[in-house]
Amino acid sequence: MCGIVGYVGKERALPRVLSGLKFLEYRGYDSAGVAYLFNDEVKITKEVGRISSLEKLIDLDADSYMAIGHTRWATHGEPSVSNSHPHRIGKFTVVHNGIIENYLSLKEDLKKKGIKFLSSTDTEVIPALLDYYYKSEKDILKTIKKVIGILEGSFALGIICDDDKENIYAVRRGSPLILALDKMGMFIASDVPAILCYTNKYILLEQNEIAKINKNSYQVYDQNLKEIKKEVKTFEGSQDAAMLNGYEHYMLKEIHEEEKVYLDTLNYYVSDNSFKETMPEFKKYNNIHIVACGSAYYVGCIAKNLIENYANIPVYVEVASEYRYKKNFYDSNTLVIIISQSGETADSLEALRRAKNDGIDTLAIVNVVLSSIAREAKYTLYVKAGPEIAVATTKAFLAQTTLMALLAVRLSRKNELLKEFVGVEKYINEILSRNYLDYAKEIAKSNDTFFIGRLVDYALCLEGSLKLKETAYINSVAFQAGELKHGTISLITKGTPVIGICTCHEIAPKTISNLKEVAARGAKIIYITSEEVEDNFYDKLIILPKLADLVMPIITVIPLQLIAYEVAKLKGCDIDKPRNLAKSVTVE
Ligand code: F6R
Repeated sequence: MCGIVGYVGKERALPRVLSGLKFLEYRGYDSAGVAYLFNDEVKITKEVGRISSLEKLIDLDADSYMAIGHTRWATHGEPSVSNSHPHRIGKFTVVHNGIIENYLSLKEDLKKKGIKFLSSTDTEVIPALLDYYYKSEKDILKTIKKVIGILEGSFALGIICDDDKENIYAVRRGSPLILALDKMGMFIASDVPAILCYTNKYILLEQNEIAKINKNSYQVYDQNLKEIKKEVKTFEGSQDAAMLNGYEHYMLKEIHEEEKVYLDTLNYYVSDNSFKETMPEFKKYNNIHIVACGSAYYVGCIAKNLIENYANIPVYVEVASEYRYKKNFYDSNTLVIIISQSGETADSLEALRRAKNDGIDTLAIVNVVLSSIAREAKYTLYVKAGPEIAVATTKAFLAQTTLMALLAVRLSRKNELLKEFVGVEKYINEILSRNYLDYAKEIAKSNDTFFIGRLVDYALCLEGSLKLKETAYINSVAFQAGELKHGTISLITKGTPVIGICTCHEIAPKTISNLKEVAARGAKIIYITSEEVEDNFYDKLIILPKLADLVMPIITVIPLQLIAYEVAKLKGCDIDKPRNLAKSVTVE
């Protein structure tokens, strides 16, 4: 949700913290700030907007060797300088990612003790509590331990205390945080890309662990302040994977990585048309629930079609924010599958925890290695998408769809179906090489767009529509093709773009009839199909290769992603960081 970077070492701290924050900007980008030690004093600079605006206010050459920084996605209080992090009260300066659920009552108590607050954030109670309890505890670690015992909610914190000019302190519960080690110093960061310019060695902080870093060393303590040994991990991905590499936007770069992502995911689970041991058999399950949010939920909708059709197992799909509160019908033969690119989405994580508490087996389909969902599920299958920086997901969607199609085959126990995956990458490549600008021009002219399709095509419509809404700010609705005439068709007027998707050929005549109905009312039809069409009811046509139904969704999503990208570009939108969004939604 927000991004944290801290550095203490032998090099100047501000360039390192600022460059790290730029890599985390995808997590939130409505304001940013840094606190740094300069001439033995903690200085704070904050600004509304992007890191680039903050950078203009900072002297990167300042002789400062210890700093913490933050990029914010506002939850409590509007984006403003006073609400930006770091927050400072008394001797403590803090950056925070997460949400403090009991902040209102804490704030009231602290106000009664005479503490004055300057922001409307939940975060500000943290330095206030630290400063208050430090007066009696007189020890920073003991104070942090005391305060995290009081806080409810989720947090990753970077902390500086005026009385300790050598160490940065860090602690996490819920929200992710890593330590990273470099010959020239130590980092804390919300995510690995922030530190990859400097090092690929990192340590994952677990729940409630407290860390202390200085220019030469680090210590990690458990909740009882007992020092613990931590494994130093090496990030395997290249830094290129987290950089633009000549593309104009991360979204475009990531879409163009889809051929590789497809192959990486396939080859991780399959070799010579057989499953490797990386893919468990999942034999005992006769009922499946798929739970996720946003695009990951739409992958679930695609997977429902594939698993039901190929494996003959009933699948229930629900968005995580509903699933976690509703009555669920499951038993020991139910598998609850959580799909999440980030592995940190709060509602998905809580849905997983709920199923676990109810004694139900869980499977995580995750991109980010060792993320919370990946670690807490009974089984975890990773998609091999690599770091996804653009806020709107593309390559992770394709990788998740690939993996769910493989899972459908695994559950069907018809291994011969694996041959359908052979060579799909060539089609991905060919579809990526086409030009989608003409289709985009049609859509960019309009304020409303409709996507219609049936069954699995409807699931793809949902994703195409979301991509257009979030990246190009076009109001767009996805409908089951047969449902439109039950009311919504009244919104179709002359020139309204309607994108019809039909890859399920047995029902093509029905979908085509629905498209003709809207064409008769003036709609401009873009028809996406994998069969030659004789009738001329459309304005523009996208013909895809005709592959098995099992793998068709993998290639069909690509034109939808590229059309949304082109429309967003024509409209001059902020493609990689659409307004109001953040990459990883760690609030409920
Ligand atoms: C849309 C998008 C979101 C995410 C959703 C779930 O492009 O990226 O809808 O799919 O927020 O995120 P994860 O997959 O990280 O759980």
